[in-house]
This record gives sequence, structure tokens and C-alpha cells, in this order.
Amino acid sequence: MSYTRIIGSGSAVPDNVVTNAMMEAIVETSDEWIQSRTGIVERRISTDQNTSDLAYLAAKRAMEAAAVDAKSIDLLIVATVTPDMPFPGVSQLLQRKLNMHPITAFDVNAACSGFIYAINVADAMIRSGSYRRALVIGAETLTKITDFTDRNTCVLFGDAAGAVVIEPSDTPGIERVITRSKGDHEGLLTLEGYPLKQGFKTPQKPWPFLQMQGSEVFKFATRAMPEIINDLLSQSSYTMDDIALVVAHQANRRIIESSGKKLRIPEDKLFMNIEHYGNTSAASVPLAIDEAIRSNRLKKGDLFLTVAFGAGLTWGGALIRL
Ligand SMILES: CC(C)(COP(=O)(O)OP(=O)(O)OC[C@H]1O[C@@H](n2cnc3c(N)ncnc32)[C@H](O)[C@@H]1OP(=O)(O)O)[C@@H](O)C(=O)NCCC(=O)NCCS
Repeated sequence: MSYTRIIGSGSAVPDNVVTNAMMEAIVETSDEWIQSRTGIVERRISTDQNTSDLAYLAAKRAMEAAAVDAKSIDLLIVATVTPDMPFPGVSQLLQRKLNMHPITAFDVNAACSGFIYAINVADAMIRSGSYRRALVIGAETLTKITDFTDRNTCVLFGDAAGAVVIEPSDTPGIERVITRSKGDHEGLLTLEGYPLKQGFKTPQKPWPFLQMQGSEVFKFATRAMPEIINDLLSQSSYTMDDIALVVAHQANRRIIESSGKKLRIPEDKLFMNIEHYGNTSAASVPLAIDEAIRSNRLKKGDLFLTVAFGAGLTWGGALIRL
């Protein structure tokens, strides 16, 4: 065994659809502004399912598609920046919900690139020979850290989960993964944490919300996405002609289109579902992969590229044959 491959995928989103027209009633914005600047038409906002609940549904669907049982999984990795609580991790909460054996289970925090990081780790751990089957998930309830009085950010995000099952393979599946990170000292995309104790008093702090310098993040993303795609291709024997689909992190339609233009990627090779979900952070890539598979945009044997970027700063991508 020298490779790993994806043998099934699944995803889940909350039922609650919030349209741009509904956002117009919350902040000073317009459907026209949101659609033309981002490509988003609606998003899902959870009111009763936490990150582990969405992860549970996505995991069940992925295992069903792979025709495997939860008891056969010996590695569980959940990429998230919006866990139900700081600890236990979503992976352990999920392990209990799925009634799994005592196995290796942990969360990964690499923001919107989290799923790519989790794939990188799972691929290496399986190829080491120590693990036989991994469940890898990206799950978020990002709207709970979104400030719904800040029009610069609140129109962008949504809640979702996506999952894949990975196992050893004699033929190439996950062919190459790249993960990169660079400390964000300028605070381009941050969420404030717990304050330090001052004289053992507990400071009264407002609920923390994510903060973003949108146009700076935009510039970073439009550099990071082509860089990763170029590197994945140049480190392999493939060209864009061999790629069936580019499944990018769905943060902004303009970021995907601009990268596509720079690299002369035909439009029909750029997968897009941002209009329905907005930016769902670590869930975005596995949700998109699952939708691409279920809608037959990706078929068994197809080679595809996936790429993500986010807070950290983090970025990365993978070249995967189904
Ligand atoms: C956030 C983003 C959509 C803003 O688009 P933009 O074209 O850069 O717009 P700007 O930030 O330059 O803002 C332009 C104007 O629109 C306004 N604006 C911002 N949000 C608005 C909204 N929801 N509705 C209406 N107007 C809005 C701004 O206040 C600004 O007004 P001003 O010129 O009077 O100051 C874009 O920068 C982006 O997508 N950045 C990347 C974000 C991202 O991907 N984050 C996650 C990474 S994983």
C-alpha cells in the first residue's frame, strides 16, 4: 500500500435559509451589492444544530456512500474553528454520537484551509501503515461568531459540514497535498479569545466576533489560489487539461473567477455553489466536493484539484483522483 483514496463523501446544511432580502432587513445592504461583490444569494444559518450535529449528519452520509460502518473507522479528524465548546473537541463529541470504538480522534484548526490540512494529516497517517480507515470532516457554525450588526462580514458566512472516508489504496487517489501558513501579524482575519486574568478578577467581556479586513484578505486569496494550483500541477506530471474540475474554497465568486482567469481555466471547470451557502469555512471544500460528486460533476476516475485559503494565514490544496 503506498497511496490513499476517498471512498465516500457526505454533507449537511441546516434547513434555515436566509436570503439576501432577509439580510436587507438586518443591516444596510442590498441583494444587488451582495450578489455582485460576492456571488452569494442565500446562506444557511443554524438555530438548533451545533457543529457536532452537522458533522454527525455529514459523517453518516459519507459512511453510507462508502458502505462502511462507524466501528471500522480508526482515525477521526474534524477541521473546525467553531467547535461546540473549547473541549471536548468536536471529534470526541462526534465519536460518542457515532458510538465509535476508542480510536485516535482530534480537531484541527487551520480556519478555512482546515479540511486540506486534515486531509494532509490523514493521508500521511494512513500511509505510515498505522491506520486503516479515516473519517475526515470539515464542520462549522460560523454564524455564531458573526456580528450581525457588521455589514462588512455578516452577509458572507454560513453553516455547514462535509465529510469524506479515506482508506489505503494500491493506485493513486490523494496524489499530492500542499499546506502552507504564514503568521497574520496584521490581524487580517481574527477572532478574539479569552483575556488574561487581571488580579484574579474575571473581566466582563462582550461575546467575541470575527474581525476581517476584507480587501486585504481578498488580495491574499487571489494570490494564494493560483500559487497553489500552479504548484500542485508543476510538482506532478499533469496539466490543466487533465483536471476534470477545480473545487475551490467558496469565499467569493470573484476570487475564484479571478484565479481562473489568471490560469486560463475554462469556466466550466470551476465548481461553484457559493450562491446557496456563502462562506462555510472548513466545511466549504468537503461540501463542494460532495455536491460535485452527487451531481455527477465528478465521477469515479476523475482527477480534480481542490484549493483553500483562510485565517492564520493558511492556504493549501490537493490533487485527488476519485
Ligand atoms: C468583503 C468583500 C466582499 C468586500 O468587497 P469589496 O469589493 O472589497 O468592497 P470594499 O471592502 O472595498 O467595500 C466597498 C464599499 O462597500 C461597503 N460595504 C461593505 N459591505 C457591504 C454590504 N454588505 N452591503 C453594502 N455595502 C457594503 C463598504 O462599507 C464600502 O463602502 P465605502 O466605499 O463607502 O467605504 C471582499 O473584500 C472579499 O470578499 N474579501 C475576502 C473575504 C474573504 O474571503 N474572507 C474569508 C477568507 S476565508
